[in-house]
Amino acid sequence: MNLTIRRVEPSDYAAVHKIFSGPQAVWGTLQLPFPSSEMWRQRLAEPPEGLHSLVACVDGEVIGQLGLHTFPSRPRRRHVGQIGMAVRDDWQGKGVGTALLQAAIDLADKWLNLSRLELEVYTDNEPAVKLYQKFGFKIEGTAVQHAFRAGQFVDSYLMARLRQAP
Ligand SMILES: CC(C)(COP(=O)(O)OP(=O)(O)OC[C@H]1O[C@@H](n2cnc3c(N)ncnc32)[C@H](O)[C@@H]1OP(=O)(O)O)[C@@H](O)C(=O)NCCC(=O)NCCS
Repeated sequence: MNLTIRRVEPSDYAAVHKIFSGPQAVWGTLQLPFPSSEMWRQRLAEPPEGLHSLVACVDGEVIGQLGLHTFPSRPRRRHVGQIGMAVRDDWQGKGVGTALLQAAIDLADKWLNLSRLELEVYTDNEPAVKLYQKFGFKIEGTAVQHAFRAGQFVDSYLMARLRQAP
């Protein structure tokens, strides 16, 4: 598999829209079903300050996306990055998430000098929890009834990875 990671480009919006249209991607994230491609075009065209958005490509086709949100204008949160990610439904379980997360952690550790990475993940999202644990993320707590999904409330773990133990 010819897997590469690069920064997202505005022209990737149709592929990113396709990733977040998949039922599994919707299930695992805070996205709504039936996402608008125009919303993704605008999001990629006008990214917020501090967002480092990466994509995974196989043979040039974008099949995974990871957003690393940072806080350059908030001095006391400058050491923090927040992660959200999804791999296209038909590419899950093939190592793409691992490659994306490894690239984001390298960026955070070696270039952005972030010492705390944090994220929220549904407690029943076993593949995602295992992926994050593989990279040293620890469960810090549980947000009860954190989101509404397919007719029911669902809890989320708050997970974080510290570059150096306190
Ligand atoms: C969660 C997600 C990003 C992981 O990406 P992926 O490409 O599927 O993950 P990988 O193939 O790199 O596997 C990573 C690890 O997850 C675990 N894993 C993968 N598939 C699994 C499955 N079906 N069941 C249990 N664990 C699984 C394994 O521990 C694996 O590591 P290993 O192969 O070294 O043992 C992807 O499944 C996804 O996009 N899901 C839908 C959206 C989502 O849940 N996003 C996360 C929001 S917090």
